[in-house]
Amino acid sequence: MSKRVITFGTFDVFHVGHLNILERCASLGDTLIVGVSSDELNYSKKQRYPIYDQESRLKITQSLRFVDEVFIENSLEKKREYISFYKADILAMGDDWQGKFDEFSDICEVIYFPRTPSISTTEIIEIAKNI
Ligand code: CTP
Repeated sequence: MSKRVITFGTFDVFHVGHLNILERCASLGDTLIVGVSSDELNYSKKQRYPIYDQESRLKITQSLRFVDEVFIENSLEKKREYISFYKADILAMGDDWQGKFDEFSDICEVIYFPRTPSISTTEIIEIAKNI
């Protein structure tokens, strides 16, 4: 049976940590679906908008050869609906989310991958600010 994998993230100022996790997610199945969080969702979470707008983040993510489908994630509360709608067999996330999505293990397998060390969008923004 072919397996469908879903993951979520902001993927702002796209970096190698993003590439690594998406590649690992893709290796778990046959189809990779990526929920890219909306600009408003990021604003409500962090009180700042992403550097790249949602259409740009969606376009960059979509362009990767191991990504099959992308959509804008408009609400954090709708993960269960997205998992069902996209018929995902596996939800995979970085381990900064360890345990946070275990509640969905009744409808799909939930897997956490170790983050790529020493890189994050927040850190890149801080470094760029201080140049
Ligand atoms: N990720 C990863 N390794 C990193 C950075 C991110 O595996 N070094 C993963 C996260 O665990 C998540 C996905 O990439 O599953 C999207 O993360 P996102 O929050 O968009 O990226 P960050 O660089 O962590 O952004 P921020 O610093 O704004 O939190």
